[in-house]
Amino acid sequence: MDVFRTVDGMQNHADAVRASGQTLGLVPTLGALHEGHFALLRRALQEADHVTASVFVNPTQFGPDEDYDAYPRDLEGDREKLESLGVDAMFAPSVDEMYPFLNEAPFGQPLAWVDVDRLDEHLCGAYREGHFRGVATVVTKLFHACKPDVAVFGKKDAQQYVILQRLVEDLLFDIEIVGVPTVRADDGLAVSSRNAYLSDDERAQATVLHEALQAAKTEIERGEQAPQAVVETMDEVLAAAPDADVQYAEVVDARTLQPADHLRPGQRVIAALAVFFGDTRLIDNVFVDVPTET
Ligand code: PAF
Repeated sequence: MDVFRTVDGMQNHADAVRASGQTLGLVPTLGALHEGHFALLRRALQEADHVTASVFVNPTQFGPDEDYDAYPRDLEGDREKLESLGVDAMFAPSVDEMYPFLNEAPFGQPLAWVDVDRLDEHLCGAYREGHFRGVATVVTKLFHACKPDVAVFGKKDAQQYVILQRLVEDLLFDIEIVGVPTVRADDGLAVSSRNAYLSDDERAQATVLHEALQAAKTEIERGEQAPQAVVETMDEVLAAAPDADVQYAEVVDARTLQPADHLRPGQRVIAALAVFFGDTRLIDNVFVDVPTET
């Protein structure tokens, strides 16, 4: 497996793959790779002839109170995992390589940003100011560096997935965005690097996220058209976990990410949750099609 630390090196590799008439898949990651990433990588290997995984802890998507410095980094471990999966290239740039002007006087920050308006108003975006601007900006840079035909993202980060789909549509990127279903433990808990921070008791309680979302899905599929009623159902299920501190439980349109007063037959919606157990914040969601006939 090739390892590229510079944008130039990465672009030369991408140009060579493309010149040979083969397709390139990209799986952007923050590293600390786990089963959830493996599902994305396996999908990318099905979708494209060559697969690049980027491993970059992107400073611009972390808020001042978030865990940028503490975020787990294990480049050598990640390299071994990628190699054993059959990935062709790892792109692991430094912060200076990706953001040459991050600390440069007089501005001390990049001046060009990519912002996808409106889609960050609800869900995680309401609590993580600037997060999705950082994500959209770094993913745009990764697209320019890695030149993929297809890029694969997890639907566990539903808001990110929808925002990036809109990004490529609005900015005319010739890149297909593929969303991969969330990988879950046997009891339904979504796989996340943050699960490791849960105590045994919190881990046992954390299954309420999946249970609440399944209850929401069942209720919508049985014909409930009042989002508020669906949110109340999720809150009731979550209340069974004494240590669950709910940040949000929402039902939004799957394309606009706006809440609705009333669910329309045929509409695709996302029921989504963010729940704290102590300092550990877990998110999860489910995409649901509102039935056309009830
Ligand atoms: O989902 C992630 O891991 C990150 O937000 C991404 C897409 C790699 C951008 O830094």
